[in-house]
Amino acid sequence: MVKICGIGAGYVGGPTMAVIALKCPSIEVAVVDISHSRISAWNSNKLPIYEPGLEEVVNQCRGKNLLFSTDVEKHVYEADIIFVSVNTPTKVRGLGAGKAADLTYWESAARMIADVSKSNKIVIEKSTVPVRTAEAIEKILTHNTNSKDIKYQILSNPEFLSEGTAIQDLLNPDRVLIGGNQDPEGIEAIKKLKAIYAHWVPEDRIITTNLWSAELSKLADNAFLAQRISSINAMSALCEATGAEVSQVSLALSKNTKIGPKFLNASVGFGGSCFQKDILNLVYICESNGLSEVANYWKEVIKVNDYQKSRFVHRVVTSMFNTVSGKKIAILGFAFKKDTSDTRKTPAIDVCKGLLGDNAFLSIYDPRVTEMQIQKDLSMDGVEWDHPIHLQPKSSSVVKQVNVVGDAYEATRDAHGLCILTEWEEFKTIDYQRVYDNMEKPAFVFDGRNMLNVDKLREIGFIVYSIGRPLDQWLKNMKIVN
Ligand code: NAD
Ligand code: UDX
Repeated sequence: MVKICGIGAGYVGGPTMAVIALKCPSIEVAVVDISHSRISAWNSNKLPIYEPGLEEVVNQCRGKNLLFSTDVEKHVYEADIIFVSVNTPTKVRGLGAGKAADLTYWESAARMIADVSKSNKIVIEKSTVPVRTAEAIEKILTHNTNSKDIKYQILSNPEFLSEGTAIQDLLNPDRVLIGGNQDPEGIEAIKKLKAIYAHWVPEDRIITTNLWSAELSKLADNAFLAQRISSINAMSALCEATGAEVSQVSLALSKNTKIGPKFLNASVGFGGSCFQKDILNLVYICESNGLSEVANYWKEVIKVNDYQKSRFVHRVVTSMFNTVSGKKIAILGFAFKKDTSDTRKTPAIDVCKGLLGDNAFLSIYDPRVTEMQIQKDLSMDGVEWDHPIHLQPKSSSVVKQVNVVGDAYEATRDAHGLCILTEWEEFKTIDYQRVYDNMEKPAFVFDGRNMLNVDKLREIGFIVYSIGRPLDQWLKNMKIVN
């Protein structure tokens, strides 16, 4: 029986390894992590991450050919193939701080692999890493190996899943990308990994390339997706200034087959653990290669994203007579997108901090994010780099100014305004008449996800701002001062 070990039981490692176990009953899959709490959650009825369909997959395989363990060394030692899905965050100090990827976790995983291995291994980069990381990993493995007879093959197999649809994406991927050395040993290793995916992925969707193309393609993929969102968000600002409607512009663009329909929803800004981190990484790589114009091009994608978030905060504050001081504002949605409990780099953090900086009182409701997570996110400083820094009040005052509540009606009671920051389906079915009746007047809605029926809300009596949509007279009269 082939044995696989997945190092890192996070948003990528957990679902990815679970789906391999589901689709390859003849393969034994061990998922390992240094975090005891994460592993015990994977072994319980309350998984550490919320992802539609994940529980069903785990329940089908756990205890059969899928196990979760903290005994990292044992399972690495036994495995033929090792997927490394550890975190690769942005460096916070030292050379390249605020931009470069921090490969500490990857390096320590590689050193441990070299330390415990007694047989040949295929080591797979599942984490998103800078281009040419495989070269460094190979050096760590070969310089620290127990015996010159042990051979390592390194493959790049970046993951393209999106949170909220991870299981669907893994079961039916657009493509699987495998990069490897182009010598006979490398090609043999690529073949072995291809054979695993071939259990459920049609062969024409499995692309093989050299190592560097695979590593760079992942960074390029995220940069292109984020760039689309910043492009449509930039258009949303122009729509508000001109009376055009961003959803109509998106629709028109989407019908151009050269552009296509996806990733054209204007929003309060993109979030998530990947886009900003991977673009910063790309910027750093470009700068390190003396390509400052290319670096500046990609930096703008993040600058527009920051602009979109601060533009939203300004719109809230200016609409409400230029101050939200002492006013209760309801925040509906805190996760970085629907169907996930993940709040990493969620635009809600910057928006909330901006409002708190103007002394608002926030009442926050999210169907999946815990109170502890929200309080933690709002009391922490973000990663600093050379882009605008948002207003960040002191953590002690934040705690008093933030209430996390159990439903949308409680959040909005006696509030002056409500902000939709995540597109949870349930926000569409709220009884907005009831909400309006229980709010202070004038009552404001700021829809950061363009998901509500603006005309209906205006009929009820709300003053409504929806990104990239024509402004009502009230908002037109309130000038944004940037
Ligand atoms: P995560 O933080 O959720 O999970 C990483 C896990 O690795 C953690 O549980 C951590 O404890 C563990 N870990 C760190 N060092 C370890 C070690 N030496 N040994 C054992 N375990 C160790 O991160 P994630 O969101 O799953 O992302 C992982 C990688 O995948 C990143 O490089 C990310 O860029 C990439 N990626 C993420 C997504 C996504 O949507 N989250 C999508 C595609 C790619
Ligand atoms: C992203 C990539 O899509 C995925 O391929 C990669 O593997 C990991 O990073 P993820 O961050 O999980 O996935 O979610 P995604 O659906 O890409 O959304 C990212 C952010 O962009 C969210 O905050 C989302 O709300 C926002 N977004 C997305 C928009 O604002 N508009 C859109 O049209 C699409």
